[in-house]
Amino acid sequence: MSAANDDEIIPRAGVIGWPVAHSRSPKLHGFWLKQHGLTGRYDKLPVPPEDLAGFIADLPKEPGFRGVNVTIPHKIAVLPMMAQIDDVARRIGAVNTVVVQPDGSLYGSNTDAFGFIESLKADAPAGWVASAGPAMVLGAGGAARAVIVALLDAGVAELRLANRSIEKAVALADEFGHAVQPVAWDDRAAALAGVNLLVNTTSLGMAGQPPLEIALDDLPATALVNDIVYSPLVTDLLARAKGRGNPVVDGLGMLLHQGRPGFKAWFGVAPSVTPELREAVLAD
Ligand code: ATR
Repeated sequence: MSAANDDEIIPRAGVIGWPVAHSRSPKLHGFWLKQHGLTGRYDKLPVPPEDLAGFIADLPKEPGFRGVNVTIPHKIAVLPMMAQIDDVARRIGAVNTVVVQPDGSLYGSNTDAFGFIESLKADAPAGWVASAGPAMVLGAGGAARAVIVALLDAGVAELRLANRSIEKAVALADEFGHAVQPVAWDDRAAALAGVNLLVNTTSLGMAGQPPLEIALDDLPATALVNDIVYSPLVTDLLARAKGRGNPVVDGLGMLLHQGRPGFKAWFGVAPSVTPELREAVLAD
């Protein structure tokens, strides 16, 4: 591309994954591009694992390419391919947002923790105060790591972590320190006593997956309940929590808020999460 054509280069970003057809990120970023009247593109970019290293190496050479979101199964694999990563991505152990720097080097970050906390801040009916009590997290996979980092950074002093395979919860407790306390899966209902927040990060309750079975009798009536599953939007857990009067936050907010830092870095405008955006992404 000649220098004379530089003005015509369209700023681009996208989401890489394999498969990537299910991703709602194009709808999210497409909404913001239109809302702000920006010339830009955000595409689904199917990249098989064997092509990942080549794709990442070529990214800075693509005219207009400002960066990408990274989804399953590449979030961990791209980490060592970055010239620089931020502290949160290092602690989560995964990158979900790549920005091509002005010098062509790649900066990797992870905005899932930010998205999670921002969604609690924006959507908790009566707010949520990290220091007001223990949090309980179900699951110890990749999504749990982002939630744990977010909660510890927000100031949660006690985080009960229940997982079907207890050894994964124990490993995370060893890694993240004494605030994280492993709970046996069979003890998950009893461990709800006194908590201020309950978060499901397992795949249970997702369309096509088994339901999440957990008795809520010991959950304080004021505890906030969040499910990071957003398909269905109202999971059985959220419906049951709401039915007994608990405040609830659904999982769509985390998806929407995690997109904000990437959009700002690629397209130069700080976007916001609105009811219209929620509707547009849900309609997809
Ligand atoms: P993600 O990146 O979305 O967190 P993951 O790393 O595969 O996905 O983690 C899935 C989580 O759901 C794990 O905590 C998993 O428990 P195990 O570590 O014991 O596998 C949990 N999970 C999935 N199916 C489950 C089931 N039938 N019962 C209980 N937990 C389940």
